[in-house]
Amino acid sequence: MAIRQRLRRIRPDGRPKDTGPGGRGPSPPSERRVIRLEVNGEHFEREIDVRRSLGDFLREDLNLTATHFGCEHGVCGACTVQVNGEAIRSCLMLAVQADGAAVRTLEGVAEDGVLSPVQQAFWDHKGQQCGFCTPGMILATEDFLKRNPRPTREEIREGMSGNICRCTGYQFIVDSIAAAAENLNGRATVAEDAGRGSTSGEVGAQQVDDEVP
Ligand code: FES
Ligand code: FES
Repeated sequence: MAIRQRLRRIRPDGRPKDTGPGGRGPSPPSERRVIRLEVNGEHFEREIDVRRSLGDFLREDLNLTATHFGCEHGVCGACTVQVNGEAIRSCLMLAVQADGAAVRTLEGVAEDGVLSPVQQAFWDHKGQQCGFCTPGMILATEDFLKRNPRPTREEIREGMSGNICRCTGYQFIVDSIAAAAENLNGRATVAEDAGRGSTSGEVGAQQVDDEVP
């Protein structure tokens, strides 16, 4: 009997149904609010339930399904997106909290079909296997490398410890992030050198080689 009651509270997609206090019957209708936000450079205005998570909003309302749900408890990092440039867990943030913000999902990372430096590094160094954790890894990596552009391998492991992968054993992910740092620093050095009248990217790449064992 207890099992049958529990099953009745599970939606066909396997996620718990809204239940009222004590789990008896559906919750009373909740407040709705209009939000306006930018997602991957596009402006959206939607009326939503104030309890809707940002991840649900992105996946179900905007059909941006590259954002994955693993634990839905803020533990695995699979649902990571960026809000105003900062990596956040979209299963924990409410969509109404992103009202007025700029959100970026994996769908907005490549430009004109060209992989970003971080995506390219994951591709080149086999940082993904099944790919379930990869969208969150890519968006978290971008934020991590902004804060620590020249990390050691130990710092990569520490800084990315909130993103869980079930497949790779992490070695290839660390390789990918080290290579992404190299790609990005090479680019920055080229830009800086271009400002000084030179086009060489070799110095920046060499510095990263020295610092990422
Ligand atoms: S699904 Fe959000 S942290 Fe796991
Ligand atoms: S590549 Fe499969 S979970 Fe990370």
